[in-house]
Amino acid sequence: MIPITRPCVGEEEAKAAGDAILSGWLSQGPRVQEFEEAVADYVGARHAIATSNCTTALHLSLLAAGIGPGDEVICPSFSFIATANSILHAGATPVFVDIDRASYTIDTNLIEPAISSRTKAIMPVDQIGLAADIPSVRSIASHHGLTVIEDAAPSLGATIGEGRIGALSDYTCFSFHPRKSITTGEGGLVTTDDDAAAARIRVLRSHGASTSDLERHRSGTTAIEQYEELGFNYRMTDIQAAVGIVQLGRLDGILSARRVLAERYNRLLGGNAFVETPVVPAGRTHTYQSYCVRLRDGSAPRAAIMEELATKNIATRRGVMAIHREPFYQRLMPGLSLPETERAAEETLLLPLYAGMTFDEQDFVIESLAAAIRPS
Ligand SMILES: Cc1ncc(COP(=O)(O)O)c(C=O)c1O
Repeated sequence: MIPITRPCVGEEEAKAAGDAILSGWLSQGPRVQEFEEAVADYVGARHAIATSNCTTALHLSLLAAGIGPGDEVICPSFSFIATANSILHAGATPVFVDIDRASYTIDTNLIEPAISSRTKAIMPVDQIGLAADIPSVRSIASHHGLTVIEDAAPSLGATIGEGRIGALSDYTCFSFHPRKSITTGEGGLVTTDDDAAAARIRVLRSHGASTSDLERHRSGTTAIEQYEELGFNYRMTDIQAAVGIVQLGRLDGILSARRVLAERYNRLLGGNAFVETPVVPAGRTHTYQSYCVRLRDGSAPRAAIMEELATKNIATRRGVMAIHREPFYQRLMPGLSLPETERAAEETLLLPLYAGMTFDEQDFVIESLAAAIRPS
């Protein structure tokens, strides 16, 4: 089977997880702190706060930004459902904006018309590993006094110009699910330069406790923590963080391997009249969480192509969903039309790509796709 992805993990991660277990400190502790410091250093942010996953990282960022019932947050619908769910979890309302056809990221020309007196934040999504046009989003946000909470779930290691994703928005949220650049099994993390927001996120992720277990342990006192507000258990474990520390050391190598494969796909699929290969706008780098092609008019139907490839043991996925077309969101916002999002959700297809994929495997995917794509 050629899977859609394969996490790049091995003996070192297994040993790190084992060492964490044997250390006796399994929940959030010294390894979480070390992982946070390493990620903050890597992206160039003042603070990194690890969480149980990216959805909870987004939720806590919204709460730290003071967003709640009655507020609106502008975001794309072409994303994983967690983007919009996190806004609803905060009690606010997602306001969907269409995407730019080529980059699949939020169309920044459509943001201002969507701003109302209730808008508090913009949540751009760095879709499939390509950063949205964050400089334009930031300039709109600062003009209107809005917060930017970047959903960078698949984009640790992506850049815009000289800037690393994680250092460009008020809050940036990453995922460490096994389909992302690096993994901790499940896991998430927020980066921010705002000292007060970072402190609030730390409190909220652990039931609202004023002091963490690690701080209490290190202080050598018997200080009793206080609970000033309603918090959550959104903590990462030290077992996950131990894996994350090893994975972070591999990140640049993993991304280079993915880029070699993506560029090879671009070259070898570029001549296929039925396939549109991904576009990377000047000045941005892609992490290629997935390799996403668009099927042009005249190709065989996507479902038939996916089935045909499955018979050859090649895994594929639909591109990204149109959140507003999922039944739960259709009930919330019936009749909403976002033409580019809907087209992209119907026409895009994800092909296998992972560090460690061989050129032979990739050639087999390319040949099989070419055979399946021809209309009968
Ligand atoms: C764009 C986007 N946002 C949010 C998430 C949610 O991440 P997690 O599964 O870590 O909560 C994902 C995960 O696939 C995603 O792709």
